[in-house]
Amino acid sequence: MSEGIKMPKGFLWGGAVAAHQLEGGWNEGGKGVSIADVMTAGAKGVARKVTDGVEDGQIYPNHWGNDFYHKYPEDIKLFAELGLKCFRTSIAWTRIFPNGDETEPNEAGLKFYDDMFDECLKYGIQPVITLSHFEMPYHLVKEYGGFSNRKVIEFFDRFAEVCFRRYKDKVKYWMTFNEINNQTDWRDPHPLLQDSGLQLGKDDNWEEAMFQAAHYEFVASAHAVQIAHKIDPSLKVGSMIAMCPVYPLTSKPTDIMKAERAMQYRYYFGDVQALGFYPEWITKYWARKGYNLDITAADLADIKAGTVDYVGFSYYMSFTTKAKDGETHFDYDEHNDLVSNPYVEKSDWGWQIDPVGLRYAMNWMTTRWHKPLFIVENGFGAYDKLEDDNSIHDPYRISYFHDHILQMEKAVHEDGVDLIGYTPWGHIDLISASTGEMKKRYGMIYVDQDDEGNGSLKRYKKDSFAWYKKVIASNGEDLTE
Ligand code: BG6
Repeated sequence: MSEGIKMPKGFLWGGAVAAHQLEGGWNEGGKGVSIADVMTAGAKGVARKVTDGVEDGQIYPNHWGNDFYHKYPEDIKLFAELGLKCFRTSIAWTRIFPNGDETEPNEAGLKFYDDMFDECLKYGIQPVITLSHFEMPYHLVKEYGGFSNRKVIEFFDRFAEVCFRRYKDKVKYWMTFNEINNQTDWRDPHPLLQDSGLQLGKDDNWEEAMFQAAHYEFVASAHAVQIAHKIDPSLKVGSMIAMCPVYPLTSKPTDIMKAERAMQYRYYFGDVQALGFYPEWITKYWARKGYNLDITAADLADIKAGTVDYVGFSYYMSFTTKAKDGETHFDYDEHNDLVSNPYVEKSDWGWQIDPVGLRYAMNWMTTRWHKPLFIVENGFGAYDKLEDDNSIHDPYRISYFHDHILQMEKAVHEDGVDLIGYTPWGHIDLISASTGEMKKRYGMIYVDQDDEGNGSLKRYKKDSFAWYKKVIASNGEDLTE
């Protein structure tokens, strides 16, 4: 046994999902249409499309998820058997405010989360909640332009306040915007649309729009932190950053500078939310690009007063970049500037597998932001096979978790990182955010359903279920495969 290092007492071992990827019930209980409800099915290498409202004849996988909306008592029982101490999910904004701009919340939506949280608490599992996980009401996109519009801050504030007041005795850990920094890959319309609710045409300046929308999100997030603390000072509100450290391909000084700029660009979000101010380089960058953003002194004061209590982050992979010949500004364009790292393997979806990168990233964030960290996503999307005897053998997933958890433990024990918990992504199979597929599976619990929504929806335990159960039971000490 052993190999691993016991985590501190009270460490939150868990699992993570998002409402739109597993609930289904997309138009039940008075729920409104969210951005996720107008995204069609994609595939590996085939982008998902956003339609103008829900159209007949299209396939929208988030409409059915894995049917957690109806099956949550059965699922949470399985989470308890797995030994989870916490369960990270999101509150679908459209269950609470179906259009987003109402003044009164939808009681049926609020009740759904009350019941579901009670079910978790019955087993001693604490809910960890993201307020906005790619689920903005579609009405706010159409009528207001999402976070391109300052007015949307007000709607988000109201949503956050209603949730904090209603669930303050059931939920201690909150996050505001999921992977807020993924919008820096601004040429891809999907993450941008999901996170900020921006819909732009080819001729619009995507980057300027992104900086503006992100700014309004920072203000909304800072308000949420302040609202929560006013309601109950013991509530903890975090940011949520998609952490993919960007390495230089070589030790060439220009490659080093390129990677440094990439890190500044991807993670200025963390600087603003954790430190409370914009970093030095960015104002020079905006001036050089001629961007004229609506940022007021009151906004900056709010951002300073609303720094997060902890930094939640996802970690799946690292990136690598290199400078182009003769470039001097080292501007980072994620869509075109990534290169393959010869030292790491890749998943079937091309995601670079790099466990040491997790330890590196935890050190980097701690040294820069000096906040407790919370790993709220980590995992391995793979094709799984349900055998005739209903077993699923997923040694590749166990080995991915083994290597990452070991690095996480070293970061805590050897490097002094303050870590709240670890919630692997999609511990129950769900709809992939990027491709809309079901067959890109992350779970320790298999869900019998295909990409078109056919299947018995029965749940089966994969080999990784027993392995993770043992890890939790030993508080991270027993990692033997
Ligand atoms: C993160 C998101 O980007 O990664 C999740 O927060 C997402 O919503 C997860 O599902 C894995 O990505 P994908 O595209 O494989 O589902």
